[in-house]
Amino acid sequence: MADSSSIVDREPAEPNGGSHGAALRWSARLLVAASWISGAIFATYILAFFGGVALGGAADRWNESLPDLYEGSALLSTAAIGAHFMAGGVLLLLGPVQLIGSVRDNVPGLHRWLGRIYVISAGLAGLGGLGFILGRGTIGGPLMDTGFGIYGALMVLCAAMAYARARAGSYDEHRAWAIRLFALTVGSWLYRMEYGAWFLASGGIGTASGFTGWFDAIMMFFFYVPNLIVAELFIRARWRDRGAVASFAAASVLLAATAFIIFATWSFTARSWGPRMISGLTDAAL
Ligand code: HEM
Repeated sequence: MADSSSIVDREPAEPNGGSHGAALRWSARLLVAASWISGAIFATYILAFFGGVALGGAADRWNESLPDLYEGSALLSTAAIGAHFMAGGVLLLLGPVQLIGSVRDNVPGLHRWLGRIYVISAGLAGLGGLGFILGRGTIGGPLMDTGFGIYGALMVLCAAMAYARARAGSYDEHRAWAIRLFALTVGSWLYRMEYGAWFLASGGIGTASGFTGWFDAIMMFFFYVPNLIVAELFIRARWRDRGAVASFAAASVLLAATAFIIFATWSFTARSWGPRMISGLTDAAL
């Protein structure tokens, strides 16, 4: 799986013109770093809370996050969603490492082993989520079942293709499927960020407790469809200098997105992820 092209380090052969090129590159790196740190905090929360309370024999506390995640009389679908939690946490932690070009080039054996764990985790997250949908259905009903069902099926497809293309030695295609898979896995994290942004901007217009609002309906697909479009553009992108005004404008947008992610992560961590993380590990009530 060790191809020489880097995904996150991919830059133009010649540095883009002077200060505006540097501003764009550094703002892109800042955005990537903020997203990775935020995703890692979300993953740590998932592993500590959902894993911690289950190990402590109190898996029914999953329902403090969303009603009916744990159902003692439906062991199969409960086990499926539990496996999906653990696999999802692993995906968010491992994804960034797989994208670092220098790791792939210098330690290809590590890239291959982490790649196998990543692909198995993606399969488990997708199949576990699908098992839960088939067994019990989502809180939001048929539309949410459809949106999340397609999400799960796409994740399994991309994981299988990324693995198969690597085994076949087709590294360009492997890279393309791996980028698609990564775009899907960050969707679960982006879902929370996008809701956070919406509540901040509108106070939650179009949302309802059973996910029956019009904004909820859009979000059932919006957390992965745009990411896939960006991934397709990225796979086909040819880098070139677009001039100072466009570069500074793009850098400003990236910096604004970074600032928002830092704010949203701090807010989620202070209000929800942090206290639940501690509660999952120490068994303390919230
Ligand atoms: C990186 C991958 C993933 C992560 C980190 C993740 C994380 C989570 C978490 C933390 C929850 C609990 C609800 C909450 O606390 O908000 C959840 C619920 C759920 N996830 Fe995922 N997930 C991932 C991928 C998937 C995939 C691929 C599917 C597709 C089938 C899926 C389907 C579901 C379903 C159906 C629920 C329950 C919703 C309900 O109760 O109605 N997830 N996920």
